[in-house]
Amino acid sequence: MIRPAGIACLALAAAAALSAPPARKDAPKVTLSRSDFSAVIAPILDARCVSCHGPKKVKGKLRLDSLDAVMKGGKNGPSFVPGRPDTSMLLARVFLHPGAGDLMPPKEEKQLTDAQKEVLYTWIEGRPIPAALAKSAKDGLKAQPAKDDANR
Ligand code: HEC
Repeated sequence: MIRPAGIACLALAAAAALSAPPARKDAPKVTLSRSDFSAVIAPILDARCVSCHGPKKVKGKLRLDSLDAVMKGGKNGPSFVPGRPDTSMLLARVFLHPGAGDLMPPKEEKQLTDAQKEVLYTWIEGRPIPAALAKSAKDGLKAQPAKDDANR
């Protein structure tokens, strides 16, 4: 399920979120799904992020190759608070306009599809990832559009 309103707000909040304090004491207690992490999130991170955020390179002091590492965050601390996708630096950087310098993955790299961004948002929000969305996110790992398509 695509949630345009959430994404639009996120885009507007992106610049602010980059500098927002990552941890909020009043954040609701949300437990993120481990099974969704291993089944849906980890394959996306492995394919698109771990080359720079894993055992070989640890850019921004951030590793994304295990749930513990993802939760720990990077040089700026945790890059999201469960249940608060609106304040997440990780999501802000993934949802940035392709022209923005802070975009993740960097713009020369294969970009995330809309479905892949949406599953990250949904997982961090603490909601179960709908099966159809999970499928299109994973299909996008198989048939990645050309970089030019992703950057239009
Ligand atoms: C080609 C290498 C490369 C890839 C692939 C890549 N990154 Fe990065 N990332 C970097 C570099 C370099 C930095 C440190 C400089 C900066 O913050 O821009 C960084 C920093 C970050 C940070 C900030 C960490 C902190 O605490 O400051 C986040 C969050 C992040 N990346 C998320 C991701 C995600 C999510 C993906 C995959 C969807 C990804 N990156 C893929 C190179 C990469």
